[in-house]
Amino acid sequence: MSSWSHRHILDLSTFSLEDFNIVLELANRFKALPKTGTRKLPALQGRLITTLFFEPSTRTRSSFELAAKRLSADVQSFSPNSSSISKGETPIDTALTYIGMGADVLVVRHSSTNVPRQLVQYLEANGSEAAILNAGDGLHSHPSQGLLDLYTLARFFNPKEPLTESIKGKKVVIVGDILHSRVARSNLWALTACGASVALCGPPTLVPQEFEDFVKAPPPGQGQDPIKKRGTITVFRSLKDACKNADAVITLRLQKERMQENLLTDLEQYHNEYGITHENLKWCNKSAPVLHPGPVNRGIELSSALLEDASKCLVSEQVSNGIPIRMSLLYLLATH
Ligand code: CP
Repeated sequence: MSSWSHRHILDLSTFSLEDFNIVLELANRFKALPKTGTRKLPALQGRLITTLFFEPSTRTRSSFELAAKRLSADVQSFSPNSSSISKGETPIDTALTYIGMGADVLVVRHSSTNVPRQLVQYLEANGSEAAILNAGDGLHSHPSQGLLDLYTLARFFNPKEPLTESIKGKKVVIVGDILHSRVARSNLWALTACGASVALCGPPTLVPQEFEDFVKAPPPGQGQDPIKKRGTITVFRSLKDACKNADAVITLRLQKERMQENLLTDLEQYHNEYGITHENLKWCNKSAPVLHPGPVNRGIELSSALLEDASKCLVSEQVSNGIPIRMSLLYLLATH
């Protein structure tokens, strides 16, 4: 683990293949722990993990908190509705308050893109040792979700050795509201790093053609791309065309809360064209599974019958894998 170099985790565009494999290998070890009779490790005893969620969450917040407890860390939660945010306190002042109480890692979710980055800049300028772990910022990035999706796919393709090599050459379809999805952006950096070819599918209002160039250059302000040769991204309008020869499908929630204008007029028509069901999953390669980061709009992006079919749908597996992935991230940030 000596080659781990990230002080904070804001985005997967900065991850090398080695970084991905460090996280996946560690997650695999944590995932295997219950089989050895061990549920809890003393690894982060005495460390303080603070979850600062300025935006709602069920899965991410709970699994970060459980991951921290499984590593014996102390956990502090913050809830904006019962906090001094209502008195005008800013996110940075809120974070500084928790750092003043000794937080080693702040897990931050905010509806505004780049709030976690602004926190990093502020903390580094002021010599703070605390680490920031982005738990989802606006449309920008959701790195722990991108990593747990990668791990879930790697385990599906190669249960014995679920590392980046397991993803190489696979075709993964991402269907739905790519435009408003920080999960899709993190999936794109992770999957193309591992050499997958990604088919993006949806109407032009939700999947602009420019997404084909998304990983062609690192984000502004970032140096060289740490990945020498990334997989490709291709945009499809027809689900049947996108699914041809596909090895897996990731479908995404329609994020109505982030839509500035009404981009969809007919949800039934959307489901008919882009909703994933048992019938259209058959357009993919045999045994291709469907994933969804949750929360799901049942009957819109995914049929209820498919959501409840664990032989085809990996949603429960994703939720379960979120814990070892988040244990890995907290361990790496709190101990390096
Ligand atoms: N996938 C995800 O981020 O879910 P939550 O909003 O419930 O955390």
